[in-house]
Amino acid sequence: MQVDAGRFLADLHKLREFGAAGVGRGVVRPAYSEADMAARDWLAQRMREAGLRVEVDPMGNLFGLADAPSLLMGSHSDSQPEGGWLDGALGVIAALEVARASREAGGPAISVVSFQDEEGRFGVTTGSAVWGGHLAQDVADLLCDHNGVTLGEARSVVPATGDVDPVQFTGFIEMHIEQGPVMDSTGEQIGVVSDIVGIRDMKITFEGQQNHAGTTPMALRQDAFQAVSTFNQALAERFANVVTPATVWTIGHVSLHPNASSIVPGKAVFSMQWRDGDADRLGRMEQIIRDLAQEVADARGMRVSFGKMLGLEPVAMDMRLRKALETSAKTVAPNKWRVMPSGALHDATNVSRLMPVAMLFVPSINGISHAFEEDTDEADLVAGLKVLAGAVAAL
Ligand code: GLV
Ligand code: MN
Ligand code: MN
Ligand code: MN
Repeated sequence: MQVDAGRFLADLHKLREFGAAGVGRGVVRPAYSEADMAARDWLAQRMREAGLRVEVDPMGNLFGLADAPSLLMGSHSDSQPEGGWLDGALGVIAALEVARASREAGGPAISVVSFQDEEGRFGVTTGSAVWGGHLAQDVADLLCDHNGVTLGEARSVVPATGDVDPVQFTGFIEMHIEQGPVMDSTGEQIGVVSDIVGIRDMKITFEGQQNHAGTTPMALRQDAFQAVSTFNQALAERFANVVTPATVWTIGHVSLHPNASSIVPGKAVFSMQWRDGDADRLGRMEQIIRDLAQEVADARGMRVSFGKMLGLEPVAMDMRLRKALETSAKTVAPNKWRVMPSGALHDATNVSRLMPVAMLFVPSINGISHAFEEDTDEADLVAGLKVLAGAVAAL
C-alpha cells in the first residue's frame, strides 16, 4: 500500500480552513457550529470520492463505510472553543488517506469516522460516548453547554441518515497528536499508546448573597468568587497524600453572577475536572472535592451544590493492534518511538466498549495543544501516517 503524503497534507490543510482563527493558526470549530457542520460536509464529500458510503448517525458522528467487515479508523473534527488545527483532524485525515490508499492497492477494507463533540461542548467525548453505549441518547440530549443550550437542541442541525452498527468493524485505530511535551523533549517521532487515563468532570455551584461592592464590609460578605478561590487554594493541600505526579485537576470554566465590577458575586458556577490512570484514586479525589466544597460553603454560611458527574474509566489498548503499531514504528522510525500512556481523553476510550482499539501519537511542538499555537513538524505527521499504513497492511 502506497500512501500519498502530498494528498494527505493537502487535505489536512483544507480542513484547517473551516473555522480558521487566522493564517497559520488554529481553529474555532466547536461541535454543531456552522464551521463544524461545513467541515463535515466537505469530509463527507471526500469520503464519497474515496469510494466510501457516507452515513451520519443521529448524534452527528460521520462515517465513511467500506464493505463489511472492515477496520475502523479516525478521530474527531470538532474543536475546543480555541483549538489547534491537528487535534482530532489529524486522525480523521490520516484515516481517510489510509482508506484511500488501501482501496487503490486492493488492500483491506478500511472505514473512516469523525466523531461528534469529542471536545465536550456538552460533556466528555459525547459523540462516541453515545455511539459506544456509555451514554443514552435521551440522557445526553439534556446535557447543557456553558450557555444553557441543550445537546438535544444543538443536534437538530445534524443531517442524520441512520444508525451505524458497530458489529461490522473488526477494530479501531486512532492517530492523534501527543498534546504534551514528552516526545518533543526526547526528539522521538512516534508514540504507541499503552493506556488512556480516566476522567471525572462536574459542575459545582457556590451560592451566597449578591450585594453592593462598596458598602458591604469584607467580614460580612457571602462572596461566591472568594469561595471558589479558597476552595481552589485548599484543594492541592487536601490532595497531597492521594495524588501522584501524573494526576491532574483543572478548574477551566468559571461563571460569576452577575459578573460586574461593583457587585459582590452571589453565585459562582465552575467546572471541576480531574484525571488519573487509577479509578480508585479518582473516587478518593471525588470525596475530597465534595467534602472540601461543603466545608468552604459552611464556613461562609453559603450553599454548595454539585451537578451530574460525567466520567470515563481508564482503559488499556488491545495488545494485538498495539503490537502491529509497534512493529510498524520499528520500521518507519527506528529508535525514535516509544510506548506511552495518554493523559488526554480520546474517542478510543468509548469505542473500546465495542471492539479492540489502539492509538498512535506524533509529537506536539513545545507540548502545546488546546491552543491556537498547536503544531507538529511535517516530517512527524508523515512518519505517523506511514506507521499507520504499515500496521494496517500487516493486520
Ligand atoms: C479531550 O480533548 C481532552 O480533554 O482530553
Ligand atoms: Mn482530540
Ligand atoms: Mn482536544
Ligand atoms: Mn480531545
